[in-house]
Amino acid sequence: MNDLERLADDVRRADTVVAFTGAGISAPSGVPTFRGDDGVWDKFDEGQFAYGRFQRDPEGFWADRLELQREMFDGEFEPNAAHEALAAMGRNENLEAILTQNTDGLHGEAAPASDGTGGPDTDDETTILELHGNSQRVRCTDCGKRRDGDPIFERAAGGELPPTCDCGGVFKPDVVLFGEQLPGAVIQRARSLARESDVFLAIGSSLVVEPAASLPRLAASSGATVGIVNLESTPCDGIADVVYREDVTDALPRLRDLVLE
Ligand code: APR
Repeated sequence: MNDLERLADDVRRADTVVAFTGAGISAPSGVPTFRGDDGVWDKFDEGQFAYGRFQRDPEGFWADRLELQREMFDGEFEPNAAHEALAAMGRNENLEAILTQNTDGLHGEAAPASDGTGGPDTDDETTILELHGNSQRVRCTDCGKRRDGDPIFERAAGGELPPTCDCGGVFKPDVVLFGEQLPGAVIQRARSLARESDVFLAIGSSLVVEPAASLPRLAASSGATVGIVNLESTPCDGIADVVYREDVTDALPRLRDLVLE
C-alpha cells in the first residue's frame, strides 16, 4: 500500500475528516501563491497591506490593494480538479469541514455549502471556513455592512480612494490583514474542528502563518492522522503521518477516487 492508499484508507475509516488549504490549491487555477517562485511577496511588501497602514493611510492602502487584487485575481479563474475532488469527498463522505487560508472563494464555488459562521449545517454539507476572509467582498469599518467587492473596486479604480459606505464609513477588503486578529469565533471553531478530526489533511500550504499553521500540530496532538499534500517541505512535515509531494491536481483526484471507490 503506498502513502496515498494508506491515507485514503484512514479517510474511509474516519468519522471526521478536516481539510486545511492554502494558496497551493488555487495555484493551478491561476491564482498566484504568496511564497516560492514568483510569489506575491516577491513583488509586493507585506507591510503595504498591514492593518496599521490601512488605519494610517487608507488612501495609499487602497491604491496598493487595487494593484494586489489585479495581480492575484486578474481575469477569470475558477475551481480546479483539486477543489472539485474535495467537494466530491464532501458530498459523499465524512469531510466535515474545509478550513482555508485562501480568500479567493473557490472552495465555495466548487461546493456551495454553509460558510461555517453559524449557518445551519445539514448533515451532508461540508462547512467552509474562510479563516482569512474573502477578497471578493468588502466591509464597512463603521456600520459593519458587507458588500460585493466588484462595484466598490471599480469606484476605487475610478479615483474614489478610499471608497466609502453610504453611512460615511471607510470600506475595507473583507480579509484579515497582517497585524489584525482573526475573529475569535472563527479561530475557536477551527481549533475545535482540528481537535475533533480523525484525519487532518493540510493541502497546498507552506504552513508558516500563525495561528492557522498550528492547526496540523493541534490535530496531531489530539490523535488525528495528519496528511500533508504540498510541492515543497513544510515545518509540519515531521509531525505528519503521510507527506505527499505531488501537485494537488494529481493527488486530490486520486485520493478522491481511492476514498470513493
Ligand atoms: N500543488 C501542490 N502544492 C503547491 C502547488 C501545487 N500545484 N503550487 C504551490 N504549492 C505549494 C507551494 O510549494 C507552497 O509551499 O503551496 C504552498 C503555498 O504556500 P504560500 O504561498 O505560503 O501560501 P499559504 O500557505 O496559503 O500562505 C498562508 O500567508 O501571506 C499570507 O494571508 C496569506 O493566506 C496566506 C498565508
